[in-house]
Amino acid sequence: MFPNEKSKSAALYEQALKVLPGGNSRHTVFFQPYPIYAARGEGARIWDVDGVSRLDFINNYSALIHGHNHPEIVAAIIAQAQKLLAISLPTPNEIDLANIICERLPGVDQVRFTNSGTEGVMMSIKAARAYTGRRLIAKVEGAYHGSDDTASVSTNPNTALWGEELAPVSVPEMGSGPGAAADVILLPMNQTEASRAILRAHSAQLAGVIIDPLVKNLGYEMATPDYLAMLREETSSSGALLIFDEVYSLRLGYGGAQGATGIVPDLSAMGKIIGGGLPVGAVGGREDIMTALFDPRKGKAKLGHGGTYNANPMTMAAGAVAMRLFDRAAFDRLSALGDRLRAGLSEALAITRAEGSVRGATSMVGFFHMPGRGGTYRDTIRSRLAYPEAAVKAEKFFRYMLNNGVLMGAPGFFVLSTALTEGDIDYVLDHAVKALRTL
Ligand SMILES: Cc1ncc(COP(=O)(O)O)c(C=O)c1O
Repeated sequence: MFPNEKSKSAALYEQALKVLPGGNSRHTVFFQPYPIYAARGEGARIWDVDGVSRLDFINNYSALIHGHNHPEIVAAIIAQAQKLLAISLPTPNEIDLANIICERLPGVDQVRFTNSGTEGVMMSIKAARAYTGRRLIAKVEGAYHGSDDTASVSTNPNTALWGEELAPVSVPEMGSGPGAAADVILLPMNQTEASRAILRAHSAQLAGVIIDPLVKNLGYEMATPDYLAMLREETSSSGALLIFDEVYSLRLGYGGAQGATGIVPDLSAMGKIIGGGLPVGAVGGREDIMTALFDPRKGKAKLGHGGTYNANPMTMAAGAVAMRLFDRAAFDRLSALGDRLRAGLSEALAITRAEGSVRGATSMVGFFHMPGRGGTYRDTIRSRLAYPEAAVKAEKFFRYMLNNGVLMGAPGFFVLSTALTEGDIDYVLDHAVKALRTL
């Protein structure tokens, strides 16, 4: 049972506390009173250091599209490791993965690799500024785009600082440079006309608009077709660039969110699934933009971009195999598993007469213990205030799952992998009913 003070995980955490602040290197993997330490994974299953096995329903926060240690990905990594780990020369591997991405994503003709989604987002923002010669970036209030100074403005702003509903005040994350907030304007998610007015008021200085078409931390709020169409129109008419943050939302379609929605951005930031389980990120986009900024052939490129491990052969090899395996049939099967989980969770709420909402799309499922979580950032804060018991229930649900063989994302997220079966989904559903009865 978790927690258990005599467990190996508890002992490891004691050691970690001495050399890592709060025993931690990644806040999203911490939970009280100590996190469970992982030993190994295979397919949909993981084992902790105490020998307890669980189904993985979070998959490294969505990066592991095929679960753990897929034999073909592992074979590619081993073969590559025996040849070359890293080198200050390009390798054929980066052309291979770039080809796959450019073929799949309608808005990506060319791509540059980085080592995290944060870096991919950061380079997309720099690219928009360098290309347009303007400074302002618009983003959705409350949307998470990684930890770059600009991208992280108003990810989770304090309500005392957030200003008027239709004129939101940009709030920098702690530690950001002094200009970060001044260079960002905020849009209320899916408020088409209000956002249009904000964009028009700043159009002369607008370099780009960045949007994640499925905002996880707004309870998997999906951008409406109207909203995306408005962003496309306003960026095109003002000469700004439309950037899709597809680090997470690549899971929305075989061709990413842009393939699924039919709205083609000028630039795309990517990460997670394209690395096959190894660290990765990328920025891609229209050929004329990418070439104008990054082509080094005429002396110095307009926008410098180094990175010791950019396009490293290990990640490129793993990513190419993972993306090839994630073909249309695999995408469809995985989405059907997501549908099964969503339908079953809705049924579990009905059976137990519990209050809650089931959200998300394709392989991403949100399960919240309050009705209708979602909307703008302010709506999600208001829901939290209206249903203070929801967070307590989410924590209890997470722990019930943890103690019954399922690792999920604590606030209510399930992110699936192709290694899961219908039986695994039904296992979760069976326990969801039992867990709801204990809340
Ligand atoms: C939408 C989005 N953008 C950017 C990032 C940052 O990616 P990374 O964690 O690889 O730096 C994330 C990470 O979860 C994300 O979900």
